[in-house]
Amino acid sequence: MLVKKLIDQGYLSKEEYILLLEQYTQEDKEQLRKRALELKEKYYGKKVYTRGLIEFTNYCKNNCFYCGIQGKNKNVERYRLSMDEILECCQIGWNLGFRTFVLQGGEDPYFTDERIVEIVKAIKGTYENCAITLSIGEKSYEAYKKFREAGADRYLLRHESANEDHYKKLHPEEMTLQNRKECLYQLKELGFETGAGFMVGSPYQTNECLADDLIFLKELQPHMVGIGPFIPHHDTIFAQQEKGSLDKTLLLISVLRIILPKINLPATTALGTLDAKGREKGIQAGANVVMPNLSPTSVRKKYELYDNKICTGDEAAECRGCLQRRIESIGCEMVSERGDSAVLRE
Ligand code: 5AD
Ligand code: FES
Repeated sequence: MLVKKLIDQGYLSKEEYILLLEQYTQEDKEQLRKRALELKEKYYGKKVYTRGLIEFTNYCKNNCFYCGIQGKNKNVERYRLSMDEILECCQIGWNLGFRTFVLQGGEDPYFTDERIVEIVKAIKGTYENCAITLSIGEKSYEAYKKFREAGADRYLLRHESANEDHYKKLHPEEMTLQNRKECLYQLKELGFETGAGFMVGSPYQTNECLADDLIFLKELQPHMVGIGPFIPHHDTIFAQQEKGSLDKTLLLISVLRIILPKINLPATTALGTLDAKGREKGIQAGANVVMPNLSPTSVRKKYELYDNKICTGDEAAECRGCLQRRIESIGCEMVSERGDSAVLRE
């Protein structure tokens, strides 16, 4: 009943989401998955878009309780890529066929707004028709505006939890859900393709929290949504917590595809870490994007948000080829286009 309603209507009420999450059967999940795949194919065909991920700094002034590279963690060897190193990653990526670069980093005060602007301009100046995605946290409206004017196209800022109490249990008090949400609305207003998202199974998360996430996302109308399972990191206060469930993450990927059919929806590295075939399963549940790592292998191990993150060893020098084989193994096609969100196509 709820499954049919979700498919027909494209959303549920908070109470209905909670019920669905509490009671779903494998049959419900399969039905949602089929519908999600249909919608994914309607807007994106068999294509899977790729983004070259460049983790350019692991310095961070924040202390999100779940995150391995939080500022307080003294066991992390910190690094920053230089402008030349960043451009070299892009060059390698461009030659491999990447047309989107995601610059992701901690909230690192060294990278002032001006330095970010410089980097964006340098990349755009070299690779004219590439897309640049920034994923560098909460900044001022003015900063976002400068990034946009410099040529940044997209911005990823997971909201992490749309439930006030839950948000507080994951973050120190300097961080507020309200500011996070304001940032997301500002990014949209500035014309960024905007991505929000959350972890599945983060500590203290209830089905009510997830219902709040789904309702918030429907209201925000983002262009992209990133979700992945929570995976504990040994140096955090959540070291002993359970990891998120594969089954529920896949269910939520399908639900997101149904409530926001045109979004770009990645099968994340965390999903690939939780299960050897996690990313393939994510694509088969409705995801349409993968983000192979382009960071120099020498720094990959240092960008460990959670334990056992894949693609950090020497064997992962060429994530692109690895992912291409994986995507082809499930009958999809990894493509080289910029891959703008279908939300923009109306
Ligand atoms: N497990 C899974 N995902 C995590 N992230 C941070 N720490 C963890 C963890 N322990 C996610 C957050 C962040 C994104 C870059 O990585 O949701 O937004
Ligand atoms: Fe990185 Fe497979 S995608 S090793």
